[in-house]
Amino acid sequence: MVRVNLFLAAVLSLAVLCLAACGPVSEDTESTLKTSTFEVSSKKASVSPVKVAAQGATDLSGMWHWSVDPYADGYAGFHGGQAGYGSRRYNFIDVEAEMRKNPTALFEYDMDHAKTAKIPGAWIGHEPEMRHYQGVVWYQREFEVTPRSDERLFLEFGAVNYKADVYLNGERLGQHEGGFTPFSFEVTDIAIDGVNQLTVGVDSRRDWQSVPPPVTDWETYGGITRPVHFVRRPETYIAESWVRLDDDGRIRIDARLDGSTKAGQAMSLRIPELDITLDGQSDAEGNWTTDMPLPADLALWSPKTPQLYTVEVESADDRWTDRIGFRTIALNGEDILLNGKPIFLRGISIHEEEIGSNPVRDISATNARALLSEVKDGLNGNFVRLAHYPHSDVMTRMADELGLIVWSEIPVYWRIDWENDETLALSKSMIEENILRDRNRASILFWSVGNETPISDRRNDFMNALVAKTRELDSSRLVTAALMTSKQEEGGVLTARITDPLADQLDVLSVNTYDGWYGPVAVGDVSEIRWDLDFDKPLIFSEFGAGAYIGLSGEDVPRKFSVEYQDEMYRETLEMSAEIPSLRGISPWILKDFRSPRRQHSIYQNGWNRKGVITETGERKPAFHTLSEHYKKLADDWE
Ligand code: GCU
Repeated sequence: MVRVNLFLAAVLSLAVLCLAACGPVSEDTESTLKTSTFEVSSKKASVSPVKVAAQGATDLSGMWHWSVDPYADGYAGFHGGQAGYGSRRYNFIDVEAEMRKNPTALFEYDMDHAKTAKIPGAWIGHEPEMRHYQGVVWYQREFEVTPRSDERLFLEFGAVNYKADVYLNGERLGQHEGGFTPFSFEVTDIAIDGVNQLTVGVDSRRDWQSVPPPVTDWETYGGITRPVHFVRRPETYIAESWVRLDDDGRIRIDARLDGSTKAGQAMSLRIPELDITLDGQSDAEGNWTTDMPLPADLALWSPKTPQLYTVEVESADDRWTDRIGFRTIALNGEDILLNGKPIFLRGISIHEEEIGSNPVRDISATNARALLSEVKDGLNGNFVRLAHYPHSDVMTRMADELGLIVWSEIPVYWRIDWENDETLALSKSMIEENILRDRNRASILFWSVGNETPISDRRNDFMNALVAKTRELDSSRLVTAALMTSKQEEGGVLTARITDPLADQLDVLSVNTYDGWYGPVAVGDVSEIRWDLDFDKPLIFSEFGAGAYIGLSGEDVPRKFSVEYQDEMYRETLEMSAEIPSLRGISPWILKDFRSPRRQHSIYQNGWNRKGVITETGERKPAFHTLSEHYKKLADDWE
């Protein structure tokens, strides 16, 4: 089969190469080259990811060939129009063999002989020269397929940052935009018997219509940053399942079949540890929605007792399985109720970056456990704000296992293009991809729709639409966002208020408060700030903090970037927080020093945001101990 393709390709390449060599490539397709990204006509990736934990998933992690393409020649010719044949990394050919056979053939790439790198992993880690590269990198690997009759074949990507153009055996599958959520393509009719060639064009660049926009406060980490799987499923397979404890105390099951025999199939749910079996049948559209009483001997999930159960959903030809915790969430005025009990969220914010001196966004189970154990055991915490984008599901599954409540958010951050319908649609698709992936995670209590977005009418409309989309997809969890606040001097007291109209749309209010670090307030006056809140809703301090360089300490008067200043900032802010009756959670900024191109003080930062309470290599700062002690007292008060 492959030999036949090579012959066809040879004929084609001869014709096209001659054309290319003889003059400008025909402009039959106009592809516009925008300053910072590339519009390529494409099919959208499918939204609902195939369950890779299911049987039949082959992990394609390992060494992939890679090739930089700074001027995106693989996307478009230098006058615009189609890419020259000799630049198309996705050609399904053996370039060296072509050039040996055809002396006039000209290729200015050769993926088979390109360097290799471990995937998943951002290209920042491929070699030192890639540290600051932003642009297009092409990746390629081969994998064997032995197609079986009556099977559906998929390629699933955990995340590719920021845009992915995917080709199989030279055929374009489509494009996905967004660096933090999974997507998949069905390849049943494209995969061939034997060796298949998978090529991915990754473009890390964003523009002002992107989500997030170009300016953030974290390292971009372009590349294939989470695992890629080749997934085989029965012709009619279980495309998704959602199994959870509803607020009416019953276990609810929603499963969806996809395939020609999806209607009227016998379905069953099993929880082997509880000896539970529930039988049923899919409806005419292939959906199975049912519920059942809570088993008497089922232990509820909580940070103190993170009990997970193996849950299986079965259809005639397929089985879906996951590890699931059952718990209820509710609000009661200013209280957040977990399993009917008021809780206080003792947390910290975390970026997706492993502990170590040269992180490449490699969130293995070991690295995830190291980060989250610092919260659970080191800080006596029960909560993590996974900022500012959906993290790897390795993190959310680890939070389920260790017993940490999770705040999950999409990167609607700072200067979003509120006027742009495509930007709104993209934000909604990120919400959908995130919720579809993680709605079975007991640890996730919050979906956040944005962070510090400047108030305007268009922004309010945009954010209200995101809240509505979130609720439409998952009414079982609480919706929040980091809001804008205002402060003014009143009777000699600095008084803070939430003036953000988005507050009325949210279940839980959240604010980032940096008095003592940003703005005129002296750190010694922070504890005197008072909050005037007239909402009957819980409040979370979703950020506060200060930069601290571990080498700056011991001076007579603590100044900014000293570890003493950071520690005083924590003490003062924690003291102030204790005076807020509706405060139900804290997630200071941030667990670990993290890479940020915006932070370039040549002694204290050098490309790192140093607001961590631990350094990038895990060294704890004094503020870590202050927070840990504070949480130990809060745990006693609340449990
Ligand atoms: C902001 C923002 C963070 C940022 C932090 C900082 O509030 O939400 O993403 O890193 O402050 O300035 O360090």
